[in-house]
Amino acid sequence: MRVTLLTPVALLSTLGLSAPITDAGTAAAPAWKVTDFTTGCSPGGCVYSFNIHAAKSANTPAFSTTCNGTDEQNGLQPCEDANILSNLKPETYPKWEIIVQHKWHPEEGSTRFATGSKNVSVPDTNKAASFTMEPTAESGVE
Ligand SMILES: *[C@@H]1O[C@H](CO)[C@@H](O)[C@H](O)[C@H]1NC(C)=O
Ligand SMILES: *[C@@H]1O[C@H](CO)[C@@H](O)[C@H](O)[C@H]1NC(C)=O
Repeated sequence: MRVTLLTPVALLSTLGLSAPITDAGTAAAPAWKVTDFTTGCSPGGCVYSFNIHAAKSANTPAFSTTCNGTDEQNGLQPCEDANILSNLKPETYPKWEIIVQHKWHPEEGSTRFATGSKNVSVPDTNKAASFTMEPTAESGVE
């Protein structure tokens, strides 16, 4: 099934209007740095592991942790630092989509989430890869 989302941009151009779209929520968020990303597959499935670091910014705390899991896990799973969650989805080999969520509490009783995803190409050779990914979506629960 293919779902088509009508984005605000598409909607505006449909109406013959145009307006700058900005996302103030993520403008200042620093990129997340991923190191030692590896995957390995066996007939039983694929495992992955990586380290991820983020510098502190005005609105987000720093973090540094190790995440691992399998491509058959059920959605986002906590990393060693449980405020960071990760998931891996196989795309066309050797492409993988890595999904990371950062959860923090700016103040008591409120929670914010920043989520990023990136397609990376890592052949199943256990060669470690490093890359950066941008948190692209931010949401919160007050
Ligand atoms: C992830 O790392 C933990 C701790 O080293 C280990 O116990 C667990 O088996 C690993 N999970 C996978 C899927 O490799
Ligand atoms: C990764 O690739 C898949 C398939 O091409 C695409 O649906 C998905 O949006 C891509 N994800 C990112 C973060 O670019």
